[in-house]
Amino acid sequence: MCDIVKKNIVSESNRAAWNQALKYHQKARNNSLQIGFKNPKFTTLNRDCDEILINEIKNINLTGKTISQMPCNNGRELLSLMHFGAKEGLGFDISDLAIREARQLTEISKLNVKFERVDILEIDETYNHYFDFIYVSEGSLQWFPDLNDYFSVASRLLKKDGKILIFEIHPFAYFFENGFDPKKQNFEKMTSYFKKGSYNYNDGLDYVGGVKYEAKKCYWFMHKISDILNAILQNKIEIQKFSEYNMEMANNDSIKFLDKFPLSYILVGEKK
Ligand SMILES: C[S@@+](CC[C@H](N)C(=O)[O-])C[C@H]1O[C@@H](n2cnc3c(N)ncnc32)[C@H](O)[C@@H]1O
Repeated sequence: MCDIVKKNIVSESNRAAWNQALKYHQKARNNSLQIGFKNPKFTTLNRDCDEILINEIKNINLTGKTISQMPCNNGRELLSLMHFGAKEGLGFDISDLAIREARQLTEISKLNVKFERVDILEIDETYNHYFDFIYVSEGSLQWFPDLNDYFSVASRLLKKDGKILIFEIHPFAYFFENGFDPKKQNFEKMTSYFKKGSYNYNDGLDYVGGVKYEAKKCYWFMHKISDILNAILQNKIEIQKFSEYNMEMANNDSIKFLDKFPLSYILVGEKK
């Protein structure tokens, strides 16, 4: 199978899988975002772990800036980031249902944000050098088979001296998925940190309500920390900050005990 066909399979399968997941997320949230965003001060960046994110955002200073999130899911994080003084926001995501909800939340919140349904790897040149700031939040990078492709788009979209902030699940944390039970020390079940290739979430992507369902086939990819750092550096982004934390971001109960391990990280880079 040639690469272009493979890329389309990944992209279209993941689109269908995320559309399916959105229905579960919306059911679990029960219109709480639609009600919340009626309040002009409403934010979803209010988890314990968001404190360090907010400090970084304040350091970067979004006042008057044009900002993006890619991928943005239903837009709740990008809309929340607008409260830090940004002038304009633009979110990109492959899921039709996520973008539909994002547009609905924008109408409710009346914030100056637009959303486009697109595969990030196919964002066209309209947005070249358009953004002062790009935000990448948890569970984003693993959907891209080759991070060099992802960061070449991010770099192309950033203005010179524009910043990218990644607040992500640490690749080490994916170790503990696939049914790892800390009481049984079943190491043979663990995903290898070094194994390349695609993985699948068979019982779904409902990290909001926690419902298990028969999921449409989707593909995610294990990337080591070195893969992430090298892909950033190869795309003219200077790394200005990299911090690792033991905060759990993936709602994975089995790893709640494992606070001796790196479970999340923040990286700030600047386009050169
Ligand atoms: C876990 S969410 C990340 C955003 C946010 N942290 C959240 O939890 O809602 C992953 C998102 O990636 C999107 N996605 C996956 N592959 C994509 C691609 N190639 N282009 C654009 N969006 C993609 C999915 O539709 C989904 O909304």
